[in-house]
Amino acid sequence: MGFATDCIHAGQEPDPTTGAVSVPIYQTSTYAQEGLGRHKGYEYARTHNLTRRSLERNLAALEGGTDAYCFASGMAATQAVLSFVKSGQRVAVSDNVYGGTHRFFTKILADYGVEFTFLDATDPSDFADRAGRFDLLWIETPTNPLMKICDIAALAEVAHARDAILVVDNTFMSPFFQKPLALGADVVVHSTTKFLNGHSDGVGGVAVVKKEAHAERLRFVQNAAGAILSPFDSWLVLRGTKTLHLRMPRHEENACTVGPFLYQHPKVGTVHWPGLPSHPNHEVHRKQASGFGAVISFDLGGLEAARRLLEGVRLCTLGESLGGVETLISHPATMTHAGYTQQERDTLGITDGLVRISVGCEDADDLVADLEQALASA
Ligand SMILES: Cc1ncc(COP(=O)(O)O)c(C=O)c1O
Repeated sequence: MGFATDCIHAGQEPDPTTGAVSVPIYQTSTYAQEGLGRHKGYEYARTHNLTRRSLERNLAALEGGTDAYCFASGMAATQAVLSFVKSGQRVAVSDNVYGGTHRFFTKILADYGVEFTFLDATDPSDFADRAGRFDLLWIETPTNPLMKICDIAALAEVAHARDAILVVDNTFMSPFFQKPLALGADVVVHSTTKFLNGHSDGVGGVAVVKKEAHAERLRFVQNAAGAILSPFDSWLVLRGTKTLHLRMPRHEENACTVGPFLYQHPKVGTVHWPGLPSHPNHEVHRKQASGFGAVISFDLGGLEAARRLLEGVRLCTLGESLGGVETLISHPATMTHAGYTQQERDTLGITDGLVRISVGCEDADDLVADLEQALASA
């Protein structure tokens, strides 16, 4: 089936009891059993929930995986995937990742004896030498918030040469623009909070896999650790994915107006967006993705200028998160990436003047007018 058909139908047959076209919200904690050891395959809702399972089948189809498991947040999905590694093993990580991911790795898992090495993964040519031995490689591409691009296929080769697993956080692209599993990745992770849901009304996460051993582990962890996505939140994401193929082109069309506008604006310094030919890995991104997405970050040179812009916008909403139909604008240094130390941020280039915008689905002219008026006082 085509992508649009899968968005609307995959995992979502009409309900067998009533024929309801929209998957029901199975809001139950447990299921009546017919006798001891005799039931319909449903025992307890942490383990089995049909609304969640519909979403998991839907997302597995969209990412081209064989199975998927949904969790209470993107971070809970990350935590479940990191259960693939044990104390004493090594995880290589692209140097710029979402601040919460960095915080979870360095402030929680490192204390359990997992070793993390953060390194620039944008140049795969000498990555193998720089990375040394590792058991799992975790990358974002584009990265949050610097929009660095990593070559998924090349890094999959490096990982597999070591019998290691490649995990790609595909939150920024969504499967509409990029399918890491087809490029060699073993696991795809999403914060479904973002483009998959698309309406800024639910927090969730998913891990999509293509090997049964990985599915088995996630199934076990989902039930054993229990950070499941609720039936209602599962339903919200299912409703969101029905229009993913309609929303993503509109997000990108608007980004194609906002990105060049920012690029030519005299008050704006570097613009980080793979859609610009000036992006250092523009060609790598074009090779592995079918679009550039709608998250753009740009430098205003200092905290005060960033503050004036962020407090001067009227249509764009100042807030954490991204991927909703409404344009969100944020300040990584004090918001999403406050968990990095100042020194780590300085080394990476997450400056105090850096602003991140998630371009929504409004009228592009209105967004440009809003940014124009706010930049006038920045
Ligand atoms: C790229 C990326 N991955 C993971 C997460 C974590 O997702 P959640 O906030 O749903 O836990 C985020 C959150 O912003 C993110 O931007």
